[in-house]
Amino acid sequence: MTILKCPVCGGSLNAEPRRLVCSNRHSFDIAKEGYVNLLLSGKSGDLKGDNKEMARSRRDFLNRGYFEPLANAVRECAAAYSAGGDAVLDICCGEGYYTQKLSEGLDRRLYGFDISKNMVRLAAKRRCGATFFVANIASVPVRDESVRFAAHLFAPFHAGEFSRILETDGVIATVIPGRDHLMGLKNVLYSEPYPNDEKAPDAPELRLTDTVRVRDTITLPSREDIASLFQMTPYYYHTPSAGMKRMQQLDSLTTDIEFVILLYRK
Ligand SMILES: C[S@@+](CC[C@H](N)C(=O)[O-])C[C@H]1O[C@@H](n2cnc3c(N)ncnc32)[C@H](O)[C@@H]1O
Ligand SMILES: [Zn+2]
Repeated sequence: MTILKCPVCGGSLNAEPRRLVCSNRHSFDIAKEGYVNLLLSGKSGDLKGDNKEMARSRRDFLNRGYFEPLANAVRECAAAYSAGGDAVLDICCGEGYYTQKLSEGLDRRLYGFDISKNMVRLAAKRRCGATFFVANIASVPVRDESVRFAAHLFAPFHAGEFSRILETDGVIATVIPGRDHLMGLKNVLYSEPYPNDEKAPDAPELRLTDTVRVRDTITLPSREDIASLFQMTPYYYHTPSAGMKRMQQLDSLTTDIEFVILLYRK
């Protein structure tokens, strides 16, 4: 049985050939790419989020494997913490790179959602066996206590909803940037780069029980990859022009990458 519930009445959803339908006949079409839009407001988050070009650029950058050590670590967490369980959910899955990595060698029912239709469309095109849907973390159309393991990378946090959808023994792995993440890039952009604060999100409904740190050094060998990485970061929105110019002159960039995986339980 699917973990999805009807976003209108909360009833369970049954799969028909080209749509999902609840017992009250609320119906949600399955798009040709295979995802379903369960967002009621119609506001898919694409207006303020990444546009199509940025979404594709993010996908192409991640597909080159620069963050693969993180993907592998998240998959190891998923395998360990979902043992004996069934449903694994990628919260705010973006264009599905990490969802696809979770699908490799992990025999679970896999789901992913994001508020951006552009992102979910790309994720569905990966055809990795996961069920993708468009939804908002503030009101996740997933049944209470139905998720054994959730991955949640670089995205807004909603402790109340996360606690509600997790099984009693469930775990959510939230990934935040580590202290030295992208310091090599920040050294180029800013005259006084600050380290990241590694602040864990406030989660009164959850217990932080463990952390895993992932570190590596990567070299981007082209201007295109440097520009794609920059576009994925918050620095894209506030970098002085002198820093931008320095970055645009680089033909390659070596930088530390560092991530902290925070493991929360109910
Ligand atoms: C920095 S991206 C990370 C995407 C993916 N987890 C990854 O690491 O590649 C943040 C994602 O959160 C999504 N997002 C932002 N607000 C959201 C919300 N309220 N509900 C669901 N997704 C949201 C954005 O659309 C975006 O895809
Ligand atoms: Zn319904």
